[in-house]
Amino acid sequence: MQAQVIRGHGEIDDITFEADWPEPVAGPGEVVLKVGACSLNFHDLFTLRGMPGIKLGMPLIMGIDVAGEIAALGPEVTGWKVGARVMVDPINRKLGKLLGEAQDGGLAERVKVDASQLIPLPDDVSFEAAAALPVAYGTAYRMMVARGKIAKGEKVLILGASGGVGTCCVQLAKLAGAHVVVAASSEEKLAQLKALGADDGINYKSDDFMKEIHRRYGKPKFFGGDSGMDVVVNFTGGDTWVPSLRCLRNGGRLLTCGATAGFDPKEDIRYIWTFELNIVGSNGWLPSDLDALLALVRSGKLKPVIDQKLPLQEARTAFRRLDERSVFGKVIVAP
Ligand SMILES: NC(=O)c1ccc[n+]([C@@H]2O[C@H](COP(=O)([O-])OP(=O)(O)OC[C@H]3O[C@@H](n4cnc5c(N)ncnc54)[C@H](OP(=O)(O)O)[C@@H]3O)[C@@H](O)[C@H]2O)c1
Repeated sequence: MQAQVIRGHGEIDDITFEADWPEPVAGPGEVVLKVGACSLNFHDLFTLRGMPGIKLGMPLIMGIDVAGEIAALGPEVTGWKVGARVMVDPINRKLGKLLGEAQDGGLAERVKVDASQLIPLPDDVSFEAAAALPVAYGTAYRMMVARGKIAKGEKVLILGASGGVGTCCVQLAKLAGAHVVVAASSEEKLAQLKALGADDGINYKSDDFMKEIHRRYGKPKFFGGDSGMDVVVNFTGGDTWVPSLRCLRNGGRLLTCGATAGFDPKEDIRYIWTFELNIVGSNGWLPSDLDALLALVRSGKLKPVIDQKLPLQEARTAFRRLDERSVFGKVIVAP
């Protein structure tokens, strides 16, 4: 089969297109899917380049988010038929393994998963929309709903709002009835985010976002007042961390699920104690979060934002666009 393969950690040019890669074979309890669509995540760039403390088997086919059709059933699989449309929960919860990282993923014509990872995909949700959901939207759902408990009327600042996780955070915060302020690196992205529902936008490439928050929403005050933000969503880390703390009102919440720009930023704990801030971490999603997302998509309340769909052969272009921060929402790769 055709597949995009890495043989070790490296750079985007090290991702190799193979026209005749061995087909996966379904073992007991497993199924092989014909890949309909695979979406890229920033996590794939971490996988490609390597993360301290995470050792991966090579060669590896990346691609965590997959939707497609069942092509073959392994022994002992019950309740599924060849040809069924499915979305994949990328976490193999029996083994604690992530697709496209600890086992071969969706940047190929076919992929093998455990049958317990399958979620039936209704005909009215496309493979592309389904593939956009699990990692980015699943994590955003858990962060904004279960962990973050975003409520009506809250002022929420979202950094990195234009990406996969970010575009879902914007939509979920609006659905909760929050006032949503987005930060992005270009005017074009800000215009797209306003079209998605954002109430206010800050270009943090040209302006200091913390100063802009203080100017527009007031500088947080000790013990009271509603100056500043109720919530800052920060999965960027790096030099955005301390300024994010300084945007929060007394008792405010900083929600994090990642660190695109660096996981060991400078810290200033004075703001945490003085303003009695709550730092809320969030990791991954539950299968029930994916069910909830599918229901929101079907009801028309949530839109998986898809920037571009590229053929499998052009996966490197998709990776480059992600790396260059030029994607709005999700980029899809499909055989
Ligand atoms: N813990 C979990 O379970 C989990 C799950 C999903 C994602 N994550 C993490 O969440 C983060 C976002 O993931 P994603 O897939 O949504 O990424 P993405 O689609 O690439 O979006 C990230 C956005 O962050 C902004 N950004 C700011 N600084 C950046 C930098 N130095 N490099 C690249 N982008 C930067 C970019 O927008 P601007 O150009 O407008 O700034 C970009 O659109 C990643 O760190 C990822 O690992 C964690």
